[in-house]
Amino acid sequence: MRVTMIGTGYVGLVSGACFADFGHDVVCIDKDAGKIDRLNKGEIPIYEPGLEDLVERNVREGRLSFTVEGAEAIRSAEAVFIAVGTPSRRGDGHADLSYVHAAAEEIAGLIDGFTVIVTKSTVPVGTGDEIEAIIRKARPDAQFAVVSNPEFLREGAAIEDFKRPDRVVVGTDDARAQAVMRELYRPLFLNETPILFTGRRTSELIKYAANAFLAMKITFINEIADLCEAVGADVQQVAKGIGLDKRIGGKFLNAGPGYGGSCFPKDTLALVRTASDAGSPVRLIETTVAINDSRKKAMAGKVADALDGELKGKTVGVLGLTFKPNTDDMRDAPSLDIIPALQAMGATVQAFDPEGHEARQMLRDVDFKANPYEAVEGADVAVIITEWDQFRALDLDRMKLLMKKPVVVDLRNIYRQDEMERRGFRYASIGRGA
Ligand code: UDX
Repeated sequence: MRVTMIGTGYVGLVSGACFADFGHDVVCIDKDAGKIDRLNKGEIPIYEPGLEDLVERNVREGRLSFTVEGAEAIRSAEAVFIAVGTPSRRGDGHADLSYVHAAAEEIAGLIDGFTVIVTKSTVPVGTGDEIEAIIRKARPDAQFAVVSNPEFLREGAAIEDFKRPDRVVVGTDDARAQAVMRELYRPLFLNETPILFTGRRTSELIKYAANAFLAMKITFINEIADLCEAVGADVQQVAKGIGLDKRIGGKFLNAGPGYGGSCFPKDTLALVRTASDAGSPVRLIETTVAINDSRKKAMAGKVADALDGELKGKTVGVLGLTFKPNTDDMRDAPSLDIIPALQAMGATVQAFDPEGHEARQMLRDVDFKANPYEAVEGADVAVIITEWDQFRALDLDRMKLLMKKPVVVDLRNIYRQDEMERRGFRYASIGRGA
């Protein structure tokens, strides 16, 4: 099939490359000429394992191309995907749909023959109706259907998630569009991936409800972790003990410094706004958002506790800045709240992250180091914020020699309490009060 992808951000690029790999002819378009130039040279603007090879192979085999001149690609496509950004609007937390609307206007002027227009961007309930109205108004006779097809990709595992998803959700009542979508995802159905056809609004809501539920699940275990510390229990065993119940499930029960990233914070906030506008507030999610916001800042207090309450004049060595490992994404990373909170309490911060280069523009007065050992050299305390694999196997003896004091605050529970104490560290982690 001929597929056109509007937007070469995270979702657009991964989806475009994967559809090409399924055998479709894919053209990715973007207004950013510099980005298209780089993509045409084989440079991938994001860090995502496996993506560079996937793009290179599909470009070489002639199924994938990148251009700023998208008119012809849109005109000839059987399916046009809208995968542009929907950032939180400043001030009110609503999703900013200006890029989506602009894409709809552009498509309206170009489509020729029956075309399926698919929203991959995470958009509030009712956006499909708006896109349909924009196109219908500009082109009363055009033959098209607008479909919601949310993505559930995790950064760092996006290709795997695209090719082996738990389910594919397709929101449309149009039979022709359903057939096109079935054909697009055909390789998945050979593997018996469930495809769920729903109404468009339902599909739009599924995306928000899924992310909100996961954010709530993390926030739940984070509060249980605090309780574990207060009553002398171990959150990892609690998580295991409840997670073995299939109704609960063991995933997304790792306690930590609070969730971050490009999806959970933005999508929970957008759902809260949509629900309150609809007169049907989602109070559990309102509370989830509030708890998560305060949790990130509260982590600085945990570091202070490890130094008997005093951070003034102390040096903190931070390990990990991105919102999670295997990504260079700094969006809403907990480090962006934790580090300023440490500084506000009087600490000096030095830090290392293998990929979080953008942190240099986002954090003030931080001394960025070239490796984990430099980051903890001379520090009164080392704080693990992101669980990169390389931090799981640190040379602890070397670290102890380099640090001013052997104190580690592990916000991801990647070390064992007994082992760290045996190695001579003062060690604090999350929810391990037992
Ligand atoms: C998420 C969803 O998983 C994905 O389905 C959706 O399409 C986009 O949002 P992503 O943001 O890439 O994906 O990362 P994810 O692995 O879900 O982690 C999100 C945040 O939650 C991270 O900050 C992570 O550290 C945190 N987290 C996750 C926990 O604190 N504990 C957990 O058990 C799981």
